[in-house]
Amino acid sequence: MMRTRPLKVALLGCGVVGSEVARIMTTHAEDLTARIGAPVELAGVAVRRPSKVREGIDPALITTDATALLKRGDIDVAIEVIGGIEPARGLITTAFQHGISVVSANKALLAQDGAALHAAADEAGLDLYYEAAVAGAIPLVRPMRESLAGDKINRVMGIVNGTTNFILDKMDSTGAGYQEALDEATALGYAEADPTADVEGYDAAAKAAILAGIAFHTRVRLDDVYREGMTEVSSADFASAKRMGCTIKLLAILERAADGRSVTARVHPAMIPLSHPLASVREAYNAVFVEAEAAGRLMFYGPGAGGSPTASAVLGDLVAVCRNKLAEATGPGESAYTQLPVSPMGDVVTRYHISLDVADKPGVLAQVATTFAEHGVSIDTVRQQGHPDSVGEGASLVVVTHRAPDAALSGTVEALRKLDTVRGVASIMRVEGE
Ligand code: HSE
Repeated sequence: MMRTRPLKVALLGCGVVGSEVARIMTTHAEDLTARIGAPVELAGVAVRRPSKVREGIDPALITTDATALLKRGDIDVAIEVIGGIEPARGLITTAFQHGISVVSANKALLAQDGAALHAAADEAGLDLYYEAAVAGAIPLVRPMRESLAGDKINRVMGIVNGTTNFILDKMDSTGAGYQEALDEATALGYAEADPTADVEGYDAAAKAAILAGIAFHTRVRLDDVYREGMTEVSSADFASAKRMGCTIKLLAILERAADGRSVTARVHPAMIPLSHPLASVREAYNAVFVEAEAAGRLMFYGPGAGGSPTASAVLGDLVAVCRNKLAEATGPGESAYTQLPVSPMGDVVTRYHISLDVADKPGVLAQVATTFAEHGVSIDTVRQQGHPDSVGEGASLVVVTHRAPDAALSGTVEALRKLDTVRGVASIMRVEGE
């Protein structure tokens, strides 16, 4: 039966995502009412700059006092699209204290304080939904939390940052260098004026922490995620990747250890074979590849950012939370019962592609090979070519290893750097997805 009293929504933040949420709530009001079973009403919009013209939003709804909006007593659901830690954290806490369920798009906050926020929601008997925090429009959080709740996820590997995927895709397809590709991403509005959060992997690491917690039913915080950015990836790396039938992506990789007793979470650039489904993810798209015991391999693909795509995920959560309210129920809360610890990067087992500048004289190859052997790292392939700048004097040596613990691989590189015959380590990159 349709309820006539509307469910009231407070929108906290009205930027690129918030304004799209408000627009869709208005234009799709009838459909949302039918799907929820009650009208849903935008009851207040908290902003920082009230004088800004906001098309389609009744100016009477605008306030600069988000806390007062949450405390006024009639709000059922708060949508937090402010981002960052504060004031978002304080406002979400206030919402829970006042019986208000929360839909948030805030990856940084969830990655840092997800456990405390879940506990507060749980204690208050309320919902905390955050599909939009990871990979924009792509349904991922809910499928992992709910659809795969009966399965066992062993591995998640994804491209969860659109800006860096755009840059790497440009470098790959046009031969552009990092700076040139970044400039294009900035000109097209993909990269922020300060691109640090994207290119240094912080954004992807926050999303990795959230996904790892959900995938393995354990707590993974941002600090637990190993992170390397992609600013050092060069045209030479792409040329080398091409020779191996690979491309380069910034990947978030979450794995359950072989013995099942721990998990790892990491973000770094890696070579992947062109045959891997993630290799064909172009431009600013996101995609996440999930390997589950019973389901097998699943691929989630779509736009990972932008106002409308992110608003789509927010509104999906809003409908779910409103339905729960009407049913006087709550959706799934945090599931961290496995309490699996997060192992350090050194324990990750992976492959390396190492490019060395070496002296071109007898015994160099043997010396390099011995260094790998001394660290227990087995070599898969070696490719040597004369150095174009110093014919007869130097050479480039590209070594691709078999799988070995990351600690052994980085120990090998450290030892290689100390060899007199190794003039420099031009690049080191992990090889994944085989
Ligand atoms: N800056 C992010 C990206 C979108 O480029 O994917 C928001 O997480």
